[in-house]
Amino acid sequence: MLDATLSQLDREARARIAGAATPEELEAVRVEALGRKGTLAQISKQLGGLPAEERARVGKLLNAVKQALEEALQARKAQFEKEALAARLDSEWLDLSLPAPGPRPGSLHPVTQIQAEIEDLFTSLGFAVLDGPEVETEYHNFDALNTPPEHPARDMQDTFWLVDGHVLRTHTSPVQVRGMETLKPPLRMIAPGRVFRNEEVDASHEHTFYQLEGMMIDREVSVAHVIYFMKTLLKGIFRREVTVRLRPGYFPFVEPGFELDIHCLICGGAGCPVCKQGGWVELLPCGLVHPNVLRTSGIDPEEWNGFAFGLGLTRLAMMRYGIDDIRWFQSGDLRFLKQF
Ligand code: DAH
Repeated sequence: MLDATLSQLDREARARIAGAATPEELEAVRVEALGRKGTLAQISKQLGGLPAEERARVGKLLNAVKQALEEALQARKAQFEKEALAARLDSEWLDLSLPAPGPRPGSLHPVTQIQAEIEDLFTSLGFAVLDGPEVETEYHNFDALNTPPEHPARDMQDTFWLVDGHVLRTHTSPVQVRGMETLKPPLRMIAPGRVFRNEEVDASHEHTFYQLEGMMIDREVSVAHVIYFMKTLLKGIFRREVTVRLRPGYFPFVEPGFELDIHCLICGGAGCPVCKQGGWVELLPCGLVHPNVLRTSGIDPEEWNGFAFGLGLTRLAMMRYGIDDIRWFQSGDLRFLKQF
């Protein structure tokens, strides 16, 4: 009787082992057949009621079934593991013969590109390219530019004040002063660089941006020189006609001083956030160097005079490339930078 039960168990369990679709199903079969409360355990409990000889024979048979089922389980388990490994290798397959993606070429920042072009233009006109410190003395940034401590014009620029009479330079004009200190007139110089203002940041204001300062000192420099050089500059930059207007403008270090505006190239003059809806963009303040500025740096204004200008490089890049938000320039966003 137990023989029949055992061989039925053997048959059924093998069929279920072979048919198990997942490792979990296989484990369920194992628990049912071979577990502590499984079918085999229940059969072995009944062995005690058998006569001794019979007990030995059925016991042997039971052990043989048990061993055979364990082997079958083990084999099926190994098969599952092999399949899982194959699936993993399949999903992680790499074609090592494919060419590697090449290094991505970088490019110059749009402001750097424009700066380089203007440097080329001005060096061809005999101007030296000077550099100055970004942490500047209050003297160079203000006093020597005819802007003593109580001068109201200090409020024209929101300044980051540092300790010990230093500031983050608010403009590139202090490099004029450094130029006059080191070069003898006649002199022609430009000074591109980063400047800082304590500004609320929005589409057209940044706390950090780029300017390019220019200065020429010679005998009998006049407003005609200013206009000639500014026109040459704009033609070189835009490579097309841009509508400009010259307004009187006040800066303590020039007299007379001018604001050179260009027609907004983003909106064509219709009004947009960059031109603050006015249609014009202040691009190029300039003027004849104030005698006090010359005198302070040891140049005799009776003998020499000159002109100076301060070009907003970042603003110029916005005009040239039609960028309507100044915040892109310092965003470090590759989607922006890759376009140049
Ligand atoms: N430094 C001025 C500013 O950042 C710009 C400027 C105006 C520069 C007139 C000049 C100049 O050289 O002549 O607001």
